[in-house]
Amino acid sequence: MLIAQITDLHVGDRPKVDGRDIDTLEGLRRAVAHLNALVPRPDAVVVTGDLVAEETLANYQAVAAALGELSMPGYVIPGNHDDRGLIREVFGGDGYLAREDGFLHYTVEDFDLRLVALDTHDPGKEGGLLCQGRLDWLDARLAEARDKPTLIAMHHPPFDTGIADFDIIGLSGRDAFGEIVARNTQVQAIACGHVHRDIALSWCGALVAVTPSTGYQYALELDPNAATRKVAEPPAVRLFLWSPGNALTSHMSYVAT
Ligand SMILES: [Fe+2]
Ligand SMILES: [Fe+2]
Repeated sequence: MLIAQITDLHVGDRPKVDGRDIDTLEGLRRAVAHLNALVPRPDAVVVTGDLVAEETLANYQAVAAALGELSMPGYVIPGNHDDRGLIREVFGGDGYLAREDGFLHYTVEDFDLRLVALDTHDPGKEGGLLCQGRLDWLDARLAEARDKPTLIAMHHPPFDTGIADFDIIGLSGRDAFGEIVARNTQVQAIACGHVHRDIALSWCGALVAVTPSTGYQYALELDPNAATRKVAEPPAVRLFLWSPGNALTSHMSYVAT
């Protein structure tokens, strides 16, 4: 099976990057067309947050209309540039968003690879948070299916990237999260966004992959004194290829602009 990830749609933003006008809604539409044209077609698409630039109903409706063109199921989670109430209002009808505790975390049980989607949104902050309640929820969900290969999706990466401006808006609660991941060896990979770049590392026994934005990227800036800046690098989607008996394989697929 094939699970695709897109991230950091930032719909509503139209930045000028290296002299070029970027239309983030058009970027999302191109990513959707790219996913629909893949052979074999992905079984599902997870959208790992920062759906919009400004949290307005109109922006979320634009995201929903574009994702509505997907020819496979799509699942959204929030990033820092998101609003839980508006996501629930626009996407709640799809039925997968949990209602019991206010967080937008859930599992998808329909596939050979189990999807566990986490909500790292911390209202008013750019950094992310996995509080005790969310960690307990994750621990309980993973305990339900210790033998089922699992992909975790979340907006904020649980590690320092080396890019200073992103590391100061990283994830709180990462140590406790790492302990849970380390003792749940069914967690094959963790799909993240937030950094608008391609990053991969081995962390607590799982592959952690950060995926570029469908809209615009940030420069690789490892100088701790440098500020981040947007850069004209290509948008991409990530594909997680899974077949029983094989390791989960991550591919990046660039979207033509
Ligand atoms: Fe973002
Ligand atoms: Fe973000």
